[in-house]
Amino acid sequence: MRVTQAVAFGGPEVLVPAEVPAPVAGTGQVLVAVAAVDTIFVETQVRSGWGTDYFPVEPPYVPGGGIAGTVRAVGPGVDGAWVGRRVVASLGFTGGYAELAAAPVESVTPIPDGVPFTDAAALVHDGVTATALLEATEVKPGETVLIVGASGGMGTVLVQLAKAAGARVLGTARGARKAAFVRDLGADAVVDAGAPDWVEAAREALGNGGADVVLDGVGGQVGLAAFGLVAPGGRFSAHGAPTGGFAPVDPEQARARGVRLLGIEDVRLPDAEHALRAARALAEAAAGRLRPVIGATFPLERAADAHAAIEGRGLLGKVVLTV
Ligand SMILES: NC(=O)c1ccc[n+]([C@@H]2O[C@H](COP(=O)([O-])OP(=O)(O)OC[C@H]3O[C@@H](n4cnc5c(N)ncnc54)[C@H](OP(=O)(O)O)[C@@H]3O)[C@@H](O)[C@H]2O)c1
Repeated sequence: MRVTQAVAFGGPEVLVPAEVPAPVAGTGQVLVAVAAVDTIFVETQVRSGWGTDYFPVEPPYVPGGGIAGTVRAVGPGVDGAWVGRRVVASLGFTGGYAELAAAPVESVTPIPDGVPFTDAAALVHDGVTATALLEATEVKPGETVLIVGASGGMGTVLVQLAKAAGARVLGTARGARKAAFVRDLGADAVVDAGAPDWVEAAREALGNGGADVVLDGVGGQVGLAAFGLVAPGGRFSAHGAPTGGFAPVDPEQARARGVRLLGIEDVRLPDAEHALRAARALAEAAAGRLRPVIGATFPLERAADAHAAIEGRGLLGKVVLTV
């Protein structure tokens, strides 16, 4: 079968099409004929050689942890009624940039009618993590939420879900085009993260002492600056690291201000809960209440261009591969 492999750690050019033996569905697994594959920012970082303590991959490997497609076969112990169903599946971190993928049946969720494979793939990570983040940070109606990195794949989902939860939403995005787009998605205000005075602009827009909740999808010094915008007694989630590291917040300072700190470990979910949340996100999409934002699609063979597009930060929303 056709795949795209990372043949070494390095730039997008290390992603190379290849032929490898097709997987078979093992006990408790389904075999999915992949139609669309999610891409997320961290896949570009791991491909570059970052975070291998946390993501133990060795080239050559097939990246990709979120797929949408049709079940072609089931392994021992799995109900044959799955065959022919349109599904999303979460594979962990590898094996998705491929024509076929075997996935544990607990990680598989049916796609409602009317939701295209590309939209379904776009939600398989972002929809799940975004719902988990809003629950973990206990966002309530009437609260003010600051979404740092609101123009990306997960940011655009968070904006919509936080609005639907009744929050007042402020986003950050780089440049006028992205800022206008995030506003159109429903944000009450957007601050241009490319402006030197963005922190002051955000403080002014937040008013009343700051944000009840800050969802930081950017990390590094940007995230640290955003920590200063949490109201006393608020919550701060440092789940994002496209800058190369999570926001280096001092837990002592957080304690002193009564701010509850959350991190990536607070939204790491077992397969069954992942599948349940994927089902909820897909149902919202089917009902027209949640719109995944796909800035571009690339065929599997051009995964290198997809990664270059993510790193280039020129697109709105996210990138999906088609097979
Ligand atoms: N997707 C998930 O399910 C998931 C799960 C757990 C954690 N996360 C984390 O959440 C973060 C966002 O993930 P994503 O997949 O939504 O990524 P994405 O679509 O590529 O979005 C990244 C966002 O970060 C902003 N950004 C600011 N500084 C950046 C920099 N130096 N390099 C790149 N982008 C920068 C970008 O917007 P501007 O260009 O407008 O600044 C963009 O909005 C990542 O750190 C990821 O690891 C995601």
